[in-house]
Amino acid sequence: MKVLTTIADFRRAHATLGSASLGFVPTMGFLHDGHLEMIGRARAENDGVAVSIFVNPLQFAPTDDLEAYPRDFERDRSLLEQAGCDLLFHPDVVEIYPDGADLDVTVVPNRIASILEGASRPVHFTGVATVVAKLFNIVQAERAYFGQKDGQQVAVIKRMVRDLDIPVEIVVVPTIREDDGLAMSSRNSYLNAEQRAAAPVVFRALSSASDLFAAGGRHADSLRETMRGVLEAEPLANVDYVSIADNETLEEIIGIIDRDAMASLAVQIGPARLIDNLVLAAHRQPGL
Ligand code: PAF
Repeated sequence: MKVLTTIADFRRAHATLGSASLGFVPTMGFLHDGHLEMIGRARAENDGVAVSIFVNPLQFAPTDDLEAYPRDFERDRSLLEQAGCDLLFHPDVVEIYPDGADLDVTVVPNRIASILEGASRPVHFTGVATVVAKLFNIVQAERAYFGQKDGQQVAVIKRMVRDLDIPVEIVVVPTIREDDGLAMSSRNSYLNAEQRAAAPVVFRALSSASDLFAAGGRHADSLRETMRGVLEAEPLANVDYVSIADNETLEEIIGIIDRDAMASLAVQIGPARLIDNLVLAAHRQPGL
């Protein structure tokens, strides 16, 4: 595995790799099994694999956890060696943002980024879309892998690729969960033992909506109420939102669910903001 810290070195290493297709997994490091699943998919579906580790300051608001965000480069490097990564791009902030935060041109997703996570974190998706567009231009992969765990990020990136005609295929990889259902996330490391014990409420709430849906429940309001009820029974969980939305546009569904939907939610438990989702496929037969 080659570790590259500059854009020029990455481009040279990609050119000499000589692989017919490159799969790319963008990350902010502190890797867990969810990342390794994406890297495994990229390995299986491409001749070469590139991973980036870059904690992107542009997607953090001043009140967010940029400084506290967990980092362990040496551990990540050895996991990536074992996982069969060919090119690891690990730039510093100045390499990606030579003019600092004073960017004149950014990628600004509009409506899709103003709701759900975007309502609480207004600058977040501009930061994500801008860095992902830059990474796509640097890495020039055939396929890029994103986790379903960050469902709105997936929707924003797919929309950006479509609207800006970026030549990369977006592959969405299912969420990897702990045994008790908690979705794997680098931010789970913020939870103390008591908060960690409370955190599976997130998956229980989503499962309550998905069970109701599987049993034939099609009223979006009932599903939202079910999720809220489960969350509110957990004293440590502070609910930000629960949502039943169109799986592609993320517009909230009013009334009957008549298309693929995403049940999603965000809660604050102690210092961690936990987000998660389950896709409700409209063609699924009730009871299956
Ligand atoms: O999902 C993440 O880790 C980040 O948002 C990403 C896609 C690497 C962009 O910084």
